[in-house]
Amino acid sequence: MAKDVIILAIESSCDETAAAVVKNGRDVLSNVISSQIDLHTLYGGVVPEIASRKHMEQINQVIEQALDKANVTFDDITAIAVTYGPGLVGALLVGVACAKSLAYALKKPLIGVHHIEGHISANYIENADLEPPFVCLVVSGGHTHLVNVKDYGEYEILGRTRDDAAGEAFDKVARAVGLGYPGGPKIDKLAKEGNPNAIEFPRAKIDGSVYDFSFSGLKSAVLNYINSCEMKNIEINKADLVASFQSSVVESLVTRAMMAVKEMNTDKIAIAGGVASNTAFRDAMLKACKENNVKFYRPSAIYCTDNAAMIGAAAYYDYINGKRSGLDLNAVPNLKLGEK
Ligand code: KG4
Ligand code: ZN
Repeated sequence: MAKDVIILAIESSCDETAAAVVKNGRDVLSNVISSQIDLHTLYGGVVPEIASRKHMEQINQVIEQALDKANVTFDDITAIAVTYGPGLVGALLVGVACAKSLAYALKKPLIGVHHIEGHISANYIENADLEPPFVCLVVSGGHTHLVNVKDYGEYEILGRTRDDAAGEAFDKVARAVGLGYPGGPKIDKLAKEGNPNAIEFPRAKIDGSVYDFSFSGLKSAVLNYINSCEMKNIEINKADLVASFQSSVVESLVTRAMMAVKEMNTDKIAIAGGVASNTAFRDAMLKACKENNVKFYRPSAIYCTDNAAMIGAAAYYDYINGKRSGLDLNAVPNLKLGEK
């Protein structure tokens, strides 16, 4: 029987310091996340320098906890994996430097992982039957990518946002309505009390790729609506407003995802990233997939937002395919998917 591959994975690309121990790509032995959200809430968004400093403070204890919870020691670890981009450079550097030191001191292989590849791979954790090829819609705070997952580690980007990422639009609208940071979960909750058809917001029309997204027009329409209500002294129904905004985002995501799955001739679609935990989006995808006889995969909410278990899942397939990083691995803040 082949020996188990046990990966210690580290993630520090934005505002979560995370470490996880993952066995054979799909079995999460531990998943520790130290969130900095409370610190950044004070400023209405992530402050890069605060993020780096906090990662520096937290990283060693987060790793220690991950090993403890998994009931393993460094000796049991096969390889060290780390997110090396995209993300905030100072934040990434903390994880990368830490992973390199561990790999060097312990004489273990080092595997640099693309953050988006991690988000996609979060789907492997709870779905033993999911294997490429499939289509994945990655919707996070920094990215909106429609990806054709051809094989493990082999990706074709079908469409992306031309301006704001979906999560960014959620965060900006939430801030305008006074809900605070991070906006996604707050809008998700408030929208349940509102009418999604109350306000007709524009659906983006984009020249060029049919799979591309655009959310800045929608965001401006929401801001204009708020301004014009304030000027006319009309009280805004916040629940209706955010429900209508959310429904416009969800519609544009679901339509393109279903178009892609048909065109790619697959019957499997997955979603990933922080926005993939949005309940209206999950419900709408589930409905569309049922109607079209498509198998729908989505990670539990804890694996949608940033975590290190997804990095360990992605790294496993790199490991068995012989991919390794050198000790000269550096943080690449604007790393493109598919570039190694
Ligand atoms: O994947 P993630 O944790 O970090 C990035 O890689 O960006 O995504 C964070 C984003 C934030 O913009 C947050 O507002 C959004 O995901 N988000 C949500 C929900 N939970 C998190 N957006 C909509 N509904 C949610 N329930
Ligand atoms: Zn992320």
